[in-house]
Amino acid sequence: MYRNSNIELIKKLSSADKIEHAEWIRLLTALNSEEREFLRQSAADVATENFGRGVYVRGLIEISSYCRNNCHYCGLRCSNASAERYRLTKEQVLECCEYGAQLGFNTFVLQGGEDPKQNDAWIADVTAAIREKFPDKAITLSVGERSNEAYNAFRRAGADRYLLRHETRNDAHYAMLHPESMSAANRRNCLEVLKQLGFQTGTGMMIGSPGQSVEHLTEDLMFIDELKPEMIGIGPFIPAKNTPFNDHPAGSVDTTLILISLLRLRHPKALIPATTALATLSDDGRKRAILAGANVVMPNLSPSDIRSKYSIYDNKAAYGCESAGGLDKLNVELSTIGYHIDFGRGDYK
Ligand code: 5AD
Ligand code: SF4
Repeated sequence: MYRNSNIELIKKLSSADKIEHAEWIRLLTALNSEEREFLRQSAADVATENFGRGVYVRGLIEISSYCRNNCHYCGLRCSNASAERYRLTKEQVLECCEYGAQLGFNTFVLQGGEDPKQNDAWIADVTAAIREKFPDKAITLSVGERSNEAYNAFRRAGADRYLLRHETRNDAHYAMLHPESMSAANRRNCLEVLKQLGFQTGTGMMIGSPGQSVEHLTEDLMFIDELKPEMIGIGPFIPAKNTPFNDHPAGSVDTTLILISLLRLRHPKALIPATTALATLSDDGRKRAILAGANVVMPNLSPSDIRSKYSIYDNKAAYGCESAGGLDKLNVELSTIGYHIDFGRGDYK
């Protein structure tokens, strides 16, 4: 009698080679509240089996708010004349790492827009300097679409990981969210190259982005199943002022949590962050993400005077538990749900 039930389908997520299109649609649209709770609990169990009750922390350094791209959803898009722009110097990035190391971080994430001044050579040089100073720390880059040669140079300079969300697997949807100069195919090609170069590679998408349908989310889930990324970052879309989508409603926190659980069950060992976007939309978003299967938090290590300028969407959380200086507060928050910070490098194993 249970053969066709949704509970059976949820159980199948951990064991089946492939989840069919119609099954994903059902998982995304047909679960009642009991089944959703079963999904969440199953995902939380898989996360604790693999990571215990530890949550990895990554020190996030936002290296530049300049960007040559013009993604329609992002507050840093180049045509947003009211965006505040800054770029960190190499010395400032190294100072952030120094501060992070003192706090106990073992992973640094350098994230920025595609800033023409922070060109491939600059990124490689900064990566090499961090690698030299901190031989044992993991270095993650998140600096957009670059050439194969650039990715290769970053790898040789000592970067271990790279984050590049695919944003949406559907080409028409991608075209709706991006200017003509950008293509979904190029984004996917970058991801392939990163994997081939041996980067632990992260991808992901926003939930509730303008024009996104259940069909699109299904395509995203099937794409992630094929790519098998080591890291998966998903967060709700949040409108950003002075962008074409500034009036579009934010994505749903509940739907984001369901996606986290589905992804956890399909990718038991993946590093899945409780994203800042979730924490921005909901006071208990971070805790609920961890209880839905997430196992990473990325507190902000950027100098506090520039933090408000890295404004990809409105009211972005960057202080308190989202701040590297707030690790004690984060640990207290995690302890209320029986979890704690894990300061390990948290490599994909
Ligand atoms: N809301 C939520 N996430 C956003 N991103 C960019 N703009 C927004 C927004 N308005 C996400 C994109 C990008 C990552 C750096 O931030 O998915 O890959
Ligand atoms: Fe630039 Fe990234 Fe924003 Fe696109 S999402 S405009 S690439 S910072």
